[in-house]
Amino acid sequence: MCGIIGCTGVKCASKILYKGLEDLEYRGYDSAGIAVLDGGKIFSVKRRGRVSEIKSGAEKLRGTSGIGHTRWATHGRPSDENAHPHTAGAFSVVHNGIIENYAVLREELVSEGHVFSSQTDSEVVVHLLNKYYSGDLKAAVLSAVERLKGAFALCILCEGYEGFVAVKYRNPIIVGVGGDALYAASDMPALAGLAESVAVLKDGQIAFASEGKITLCDFNGGAAGLSLSPIPAAARSTRLGGFPHYMIKEINEIPAAVKNTVHAFTEEKCYAALTRAAKKRGGFKDIILCGCGTAYHSALAAAYTAEELLGIPVRAETAGEFRYKKSAANSGTLFVAVSQSGETADTVEAARAAKGAGACVAAVTNVPYSALTGVADIVVPVRAGTEVCVAATKSYCGQIAALALTVTALKGRQAYIKMLAELKDIGAKCSAAISDCMVEAAARACASSSGVYFIGRGIDYPVALEGSLKLKEVSYVPGEGYPAGELKHGTIALIDGGTLTVAVITDKTLAEKTASAIEQIYSRGGRAAVVYASGCAPENLIERAEFAIEVPASSDSISPIVSVIPLQLIAYRTAVILGRDPDKPRNLAKSVTVE
Ligand code: AGP
Repeated sequence: MCGIIGCTGVKCASKILYKGLEDLEYRGYDSAGIAVLDGGKIFSVKRRGRVSEIKSGAEKLRGTSGIGHTRWATHGRPSDENAHPHTAGAFSVVHNGIIENYAVLREELVSEGHVFSSQTDSEVVVHLLNKYYSGDLKAAVLSAVERLKGAFALCILCEGYEGFVAVKYRNPIIVGVGGDALYAASDMPALAGLAESVAVLKDGQIAFASEGKITLCDFNGGAAGLSLSPIPAAARSTRLGGFPHYMIKEINEIPAAVKNTVHAFTEEKCYAALTRAAKKRGGFKDIILCGCGTAYHSALAAAYTAEELLGIPVRAETAGEFRYKKSAANSGTLFVAVSQSGETADTVEAARAAKGAGACVAAVTNVPYSALTGVADIVVPVRAGTEVCVAATKSYCGQIAALALTVTALKGRQAYIKMLAELKDIGAKCSAAISDCMVEAAARACASSSGVYFIGRGIDYPVALEGSLKLKEVSYVPGEGYPAGELKHGTIALIDGGTLTVAVITDKTLAEKTASAIEQIYSRGGRAAVVYASGCAPENLIERAEFAIEVPASSDSISPIVSVIPLQLIAYRTAVILGRDPDKPRNLAKSVTVE
């Protein structure tokens, strides 16, 4: 939700930090700031708005150590004052996460004479550091951290200490070494090109980075070992490479995302891990698939086919709801947590809750070093590559592939081998869907509609939900995703000539039923369109549609990988036509690390 970065031992800290913040900007972009140590004193710049707002201010800063932040607001609206770093007394702090007990701490600190200048929860950290500081930095950090409840990744500057301190609790922070320089950042891509070796800090660790050396301790002050490894090639910082936006670049990367995911599943011996775990528990009695937003939609798609294939109860739940359900999982449950980032607080906490209830937890994630993998018993890799656009596209397709392999692995070798074979062909089908897709007319139709509804039945319903989410989040055109049969139970009241309904049809056996829903829309003066798999939609539906987009047919469990592509492309083009920034939609951030 926020991106943080720190560096020391570099020629010009602000230059490195500014560039790092550009890489981290997808994590939040309502304000940004940098603080540096120059001659032992702290100097900073911070502004509301995108990272570019602090460019000229950053250029004026000198010094070889510093910290930076790009924000997605939780407490306090986006403003110059609420932007990080928060500086007071001898300290400056950037924070990613949430300080749950900030109100109590603030009251205490105010009563002691500390003067606050923002409405953020984070500002208490800088005042706590000052409260406990009497010349011993480590002691001050330990005392301050002991008072904090919630989730926090911090980078701290202290006057007189040539370096920075990084703290990790429930939010990610990675430290790195490159030559004589030391770094810390919220994710690997921000360190690519800077650090040669990296270490992912564990919960409850504090790193003191100074004079070419990183020293680790735990929250009790006990020494901890630092084990650095070469920065993974997959963490390479991504660039647009000729595409106008990351969203369209990443849609074009779907074939590679699926191929690499399949390869990683086999290479990391997931089949064996899953079957071993099932055997150990005498077979799973039920499966819960869980995630948020797009990840929930891929979980829902997998649930549709898994129940039929495995013959045990399988359900998908949004992570935010699952967390607070009593007795939702038990020792017979396979709990599959799906998350691109592996950082989403609701999903990570849902996985913790399931594990606490005795379930076997599998993490389906694009980030191998994430908080979610730390909780999981089994990691099912998605290898979509770094996804920069806030709207998930290629990671969704990677998740569908990883989940299809997971489900068939649980069914048995024959089903698994069959799925591997089907997934071999899917890359070519995706490429065809991307290159043949004529979305311009469709996007213009969406851009001029007062609302766009997406409907589908069976496996096409989760795709309808995803198409709707994509369009809403990047273009701000309102609408909903609905099971095709549900529309007539209320939402049909919204249908008029200004609204457009897009039917997704990839299952021939359900096509006529969805066609009836479209007839009901025409009868009420509404407009309709169709995205369909070859040979699956009735001719009269195609002929009458405002637009009709055909994609190659594939088997049920993996059809969403292909059928979602036109919907992603339509959302992208609609956003561009309406002058929106598809990569950084308003009010959003790539991962939401608070509940
Ligand atoms: C997707 O386009 C959204 N930006 C959002 O719904 C996202 O999928 C959700 O926040 C979950 O993120 P995660 O996969 O990183 O857990």
